[in-house]
Amino acid sequence: MNLPHYVKMVEVAPRDGLQNEPIQVSTAQKIAFIDRLSETGLPVIEAASFVAPHAVPQMSDAAAVLSGIRRRPGVVYPVLVPNRKGLELAIENGVEEISLFAAASQTFSQHNINCSIDQSLERFAEVAALALPRGIRMRGYISCVAGCPYEGEVALQQVAEVAGRLLQIGCYEISLGDTIGVGTPGQIRELLCLVATRVPRESLAVHFHDSYGQALANILTALEEGITVVDSSVAGLGGCPYAPGASGNMASEDVLYMLNGLGIATGVDLDRLIDAGRFICAILNRSTGSKVARARDSRCAGV
Ligand code: HMG
Ligand code: MG
Repeated sequence: MNLPHYVKMVEVAPRDGLQNEPIQVSTAQKIAFIDRLSETGLPVIEAASFVAPHAVPQMSDAAAVLSGIRRRPGVVYPVLVPNRKGLELAIENGVEEISLFAAASQTFSQHNINCSIDQSLERFAEVAALALPRGIRMRGYISCVAGCPYEGEVALQQVAEVAGRLLQIGCYEISLGDTIGVGTPGQIRELLCLVATRVPRESLAVHFHDSYGQALANILTALEEGITVVDSSVAGLGGCPYAPGASGNMASEDVLYMLNGLGIATGVDLDRLIDAGRFICAILNRSTGSKVARARDSRCAGV
């Protein structure tokens, strides 16, 4: 297998992991969680979203979270921004990197951000014109790359088209989101090969939810295809309020265990990552979605 020597792990639990949780996690708990993640060696921790509070109430304390965290030098803390208002809040709060989020499905775009794909890209171009001159870096997401909760099948060509436009707008990296976790390795390989005709592979990331148990296989496929940036979420937390039935993201602990086994460097410490997952699961009063964390727990209990 032709695999990369290093993979950049992008931790999305404080944002994607918490945004759909019915329990309101306090600001202090979010800060303590991010601070723990900062001690694991993760290079990127997506910290919050500046979105409409009516759309995602869990993220309504984003400003307080950002001002409370201890920023570890060298770690990037991006924040999701859907429009100009979100960017203004990001600027006020000293954010250095934002994530714009588009979709490959019209219906999902309408549900998620209340506009068409074209309208969203126009908004993002406006955001870019203000963000880039200030030195704010931009990452782009595309949701529904392998299927849509409303439309079903999504044309791969549509994903490639949106990816090309996000690159043009000025995103340095584009993360392909299988929002509802339906993709399988053959489909993901085909998708990556097509998108790579519009965006260089080194500028692509993958973001797989694990609803159908395919995420780890899809990540390995992406690594074989030359992708070196992987989004994941500790304890397998995650879900989008506008993607009914979607389960959590691929658990970061399980991704890291696989990468360690393959001899791929990440700079991330597995024990500390498992501890951060335990910490947030105790707050949410739920069991972990990470198989590795579960296996470690049963080994500790002598089972
Ligand atoms: P809208 O209702 O059309 O917005 O929502 P609007 O411009 O008409 O404004 C309505 C109200 O929201 C106004 O307040 C605005 O000020 C306020 P009011 O005057 O009524 O008091 N508002 C804002 N407040 C704070 N921050 C903002 C902001 N914008 C407007 N940025 C909008 C459109 C895009 C704002 C809304 O639909 C929204 O916030 N959507 C975000 C949904 C979301 O966060 N979804 C989850 C993230 S995406 C995801 O999880 C997928 C991903 O993980 C990848 C994958 O898995 O596929 C990334
Ligand atoms: Mg997601």
